[in-house]
Amino acid sequence: MTAFAGSQRNPLPEMMTSIRIDTAGQVEIVDQLLLPHTVTWIPISTPEEAFEAIKSMKIRGAPAIASLAALSIRSHLSAHDSYNSTSSVKEDVSRICDYLQSSRPTAVNLAEAMDRIRSTLDSGSESQSPVDLVDQIKQICTAVHGEDLERCITMGRLGAEWLWAKRRAGSGSGKKGLKVLTVCNTGSLATSGYGTAIGVITALFEADQLERAYYAQTTPYHQGSRLTSLELTTLKMPACMVCDTALGSLMQLHDIDGVIVGADRIVANGDTANKIGTYQAAVLANRHSVPFMVVAPVTTVDLSLKTGAEINIEQRPGKEATQVRGKNLETGEMSVVRISPEGVGEGSELWQGVYNPAFDVTPADLISCVVTEKGVAERQKGSQSIDVASVC
Ligand code: MRU
Repeated sequence: MTAFAGSQRNPLPEMMTSIRIDTAGQVEIVDQLLLPHTVTWIPISTPEEAFEAIKSMKIRGAPAIASLAALSIRSHLSAHDSYNSTSSVKEDVSRICDYLQSSRPTAVNLAEAMDRIRSTLDSGSESQSPVDLVDQIKQICTAVHGEDLERCITMGRLGAEWLWAKRRAGSGSGKKGLKVLTVCNTGSLATSGYGTAIGVITALFEADQLERAYYAQTTPYHQGSRLTSLELTTLKMPACMVCDTALGSLMQLHDIDGVIVGADRIVANGDTANKIGTYQAAVLANRHSVPFMVVAPVTTVDLSLKTGAEINIEQRPGKEATQVRGKNLETGEMSVVRISPEGVGEGSELWQGVYNPAFDVTPADLISCVVTEKGVAERQKGSQSIDVASVC
C-alpha cells in the first residue's frame, strides 16, 4: 500500500499564491491575467475592487473567488466600525453579499460563502450589539479563506489513494507511476493552497507515483498553458501540456490512468459544471475506459439543484476568445493581440458571433467518482448518478 500523505509545501512560491494578507490585514491578489510572465500584486480593500477582480478574472477558481469575496467583506467591516444598530449591519452586509455574488454565477462556492454570512446576519437579534455581529461576520470571512488549505490536502490524499487502488494492471508498479490528465487550473492559484485536482496530482507526485501529469491548454483563457503550467513547472513535476484539440489523440495513444478535474458546481445527482472542455475530456475518458474523477470541497456541492440542466452557465464576452494576451517576444512587454478578423466577437451582427461559455456540464454517468474532503463517492456500475450527499 502506497502512503499518500499529502503535505503542504510551505511557504508557497510567491507566484503560486493567489491571495496574501499582510500583518496589517491588507489583502492583495496576484493578477492572474498577467501570469506567468509578470507577478503583479493588486491591493483589494473594498467589495467593489473584489467584484472587479473576480469579474475580470484577475482572480479565478471557485474556492479562490469565494475567499476574496469574503475577505473583501472583512476589509469593508474593518473600515466601517461605526454601525449604530444591528439592522444597519444587516442591511449593509446583505447588500454587499448580493452584489459580490452577482460577479460570477456558476461557481457555487461564492454563493455558499455569501449564504454563510447571510445566515449569521439572519440569526443576529436586535439585542445583539452591532460590534458583536460585525465580529461574528469577520470570523466567518476569515474562516472561508482559512479552511480551504487543509481540506485541499485531505482531498489530495483521498483522491490519490482512490486512483492508485484503481490503477490498471501494469500501471503504477515499480518506477512507472500513473499518467494523469487534468483540465484548467485547480492548484494553489485557484484555492488557498495545494489545490483540488492538482492536489491529487501533487499527492501522487510527492509519493513518487506520478509518471506524468498532462494538462490541457484550456483555451480561450489558457488556465492550463499559463497557470497550471506555471504551477507544475515550479513544483518540478514531470508534466506535459496538451493542446485542447489533442485530448482524443492523447487518450488513444498514451495509456492514461486517470482524468482528474475540479468543479464549479456539483449538483445532487452528481452532474458537474466545470471549465469548458471538461465534458469532452469526460466523453473521451469514457470511450477509452479511463477513470474520470471530480475533486472539489463540500462547498462546491449544491444539493438544491437536482440535475446539471438547472446550472446557470456563465457566458463570457466573445472578444475573450478572439484576443490573446501574452508577452511580446521583442519588447518583453505584456500585450493583447487579436487573432480573428476585426469585429468578430465584438458586435451583434450575425457574422460577429462567438460561442464562448465559460463552463460545461459533465453528466454524472461519465464520472467515476466525486472526491470531497469528507470522502469518495463512487458511481455504482450501471448507475446514471452519484450519491454526492454521502460525501457532504
Ligand atoms: O473560469 P475559471 O478559471 O474560474 O474556472 C475555474 C475552473 O473551472 C476550476 O476547475 C474550478 O473552479 C475548480 S478550482 C479548484
